[in-house]
Amino acid sequence: MSFTERVRDLTRLAFQLGNNWMTLAGAAMTTSSAFVLVWFWFMEITSPRSIHPYMGIILFLILPALFLVGLALIPLGIIRLRRQRKLAGETPLPLQAVDFKQPGVRRLLTVVGVLTFINVSILGTAGLKGVEYMDSNQFCGLTCHTVMSPEYTAFLDSPHSRVGCAQCHIGHGAPALVRAKISGSRQLFAVAFGTFSRPIPSPVEHLRPARETCEQCHWPQKFTNDKLIVRTKFAEDEANTASTSILLLKIGGHTPNGTTGIHGRHLDAMERISYITTDARRQEIPKVTYRDDNGQLVEYVTDDFKKLPKETVDKATVRKMDCIDCHNRPTHAFQLPDRALDKAMAEKRMSAELPFLKKQALELLKVDYADQKAAAAKIPVALAEYYRTTYPEIYKQKRAQVDTAGEVVKAIYLRNVFPEMKITWGTHPNNIGHEESVGCFRCHDGNHTAADGRSIKGDCDTCHTILAQDEKDPKILKDFGMK
Ligand code: HEC
Ligand code: HEC
Ligand code: HEC
Ligand code: HEC
Ligand code: HEC
Repeated sequence: MSFTERVRDLTRLAFQLGNNWMTLAGAAMTTSSAFVLVWFWFMEITSPRSIHPYMGIILFLILPALFLVGLALIPLGIIRLRRQRKLAGETPLPLQAVDFKQPGVRRLLTVVGVLTFINVSILGTAGLKGVEYMDSNQFCGLTCHTVMSPEYTAFLDSPHSRVGCAQCHIGHGAPALVRAKISGSRQLFAVAFGTFSRPIPSPVEHLRPARETCEQCHWPQKFTNDKLIVRTKFAEDEANTASTSILLLKIGGHTPNGTTGIHGRHLDAMERISYITTDARRQEIPKVTYRDDNGQLVEYVTDDFKKLPKETVDKATVRKMDCIDCHNRPTHAFQLPDRALDKAMAEKRMSAELPFLKKQALELLKVDYADQKAAAAKIPVALAEYYRTTYPEIYKQKRAQVDTAGEVVKAIYLRNVFPEMKITWGTHPNNIGHEESVGCFRCHDGNHTAADGRSIKGDCDTCHTILAQDEKDPKILKDFGMK
């Protein structure tokens, strides 16, 4: 049979077989979802408003799926019809000669060709849009509202709030994308059936190495000067007494004379540091391997390490140090109540003139509320009640300040505690310092020593120069012109 004849037969069959309900329904589904999709893409281009995440599910995932199902129904209907005819013992189909010279047949072929072209374009665009949507912050952060709400809330209040979830969590390249989509489908099931863990575990397994995520935007070799940190704390006394610490953090990096400081010493072209850890959160680090400037490998171990059973050591995770070992909460940084209150008072978002404010606020933040709604309802009322009964005069004079403080304390709670996801104060420790969690002292505790007597330094001026520690009114702030 020649090619033309084969095409001729096919066309004829399509013509006759298209006349069944399944094929027709498929054609209707495909056509109508195509119209809605195209209309929506047009709206998306012309209107500046962003879409609601649930709307996104319909537009980017369900409609394209309907479109595809419709496309599939068209041939399925035909197959079914053929089988029915065969079973009924009818002649499969009366074959009539189709004459390509007939204008009707030529027109039909053109229509089929054009429709196929449009379908392929729609499918391609829908695929691209779907992937793009599934990578959007809205999809990641809002669709499974309760599940992601802690991470999303902290993310919005961070230096990375304009960086996409996918840029840190998925990284670049097709393999990363495919793997993320596969594990994403598993997660969708977990959400649909409520089987996800509360809280979502951290560290994230299979998080891409920092080289493929953070380092797409940050340049690790960049030299950063000492960074000035000014931190004011408020005591839990009647006057909320303030004291300030000031330090210069030696961030460092690469200099003409080699690598220095916090960044320079751990990260280098030659990957200096790896370690083993015995707990899931990487808080216990009994052994650190370091390549020093002479290229010599130094093994720093703790006293405990020598006592660990061999199978624990064999099972321990080995990890090359990268950005995330210090910056484990670059965007989902949950605060502790003490520091969050200090910050609010130092920034004068709530008045340190209210007696015992720090102490009262701390107590209210540490109560076990059933959920965020209960906390939001109770915190401001309880604070107002405290001043109304204990300091009625002050309550009368400073009513507005008490109300503001109530709202600020409530906001601190809602920003950091998510009873629905079992996230409370300190669930996700931040490794960047040493005051709120062990952090740097996981290694820099003076207890990690090498066979030759060297140890990982732990003295206070290794990482920062302390210019003032817990001073009432540090003179140096005046010298800097900061007061
Ligand atoms: C700047 C990079 C960055 C961005 C942007 C980012 N994340 Fe993360 N995310 C991290 C890191 C780092 C961790 C912790 C990794 C670890 O310790 O293994 C993490 C952890 C998580 C976890 C595990 C639970 C936890 O708190 O540790 C979830 C869930 C999560 N991120 C969701 C999101 C969502 C949703 C978005 C977007 C709204 C997002 N992330 C944006 C870097 C990022
Ligand atoms: C898509 C680009 C991008 C990626 C990926 C990215 N960052 Fe950033 N990061 C930024 C930008 C932009 C800022 C500056 C924000 C500002 O100045 O407000 C920033 C700021 C920071 C800061 C300074 C925060 C501060 O307090 O000033 C740290 C630390 C940081 N990033 C660490 C990381 C780490 C760790 C990763 C990987 C987990 C990462 N970043 C991934 C773009 C990125
Ligand atoms: C040994 C721990 C450690 C490692 C590893 C590390 N950092 Fe940092 N980084 C710090 C500390 C500490 C600071 C200062 C934090 C602060 O502001 O309180 C900092 C500050 C920063 C800042 C802000 C600088 C500024 O001028 O404020 C950026 C950006 C940053 N780091 C990015 C990175 C990136 C990207 C990597 C990986 C290539 C990385 N860091 C690896 C400890 C580390
Ligand atoms: C996994 C273990 C580990 C962690 C965690 C770690 N460090 Fe280090 N750090 C090392 C090792 C190992 C060295 C090199 C020790 C040596 O010089 O022999 C080092 C060196 C340094 C140096 C250079 C000291 C000098 O005088 O040469 C600074 C500064 C430093 N670290 C700061 C920090 C800070 C700040 C943090 C927390 C944000 C931190 N480190 C977390 C292992 C670690
Ligand atoms: C391994 C590095 C390292 C060593 C050693 C170290 N620190 Fe720090 N320290 C840091 C970093 C990093 C921060 C900043 C953390 C942050 O931005 O929250 C910090 C912050 C502080 C702060 C301000 C904390 C706050 O928020 O209240 C004080 C005070 C302080 N250090 C005191 C000390 C003293 C005292 C010692 C000696 C016993 C010491 N540090 C040793 C890395 C170190």
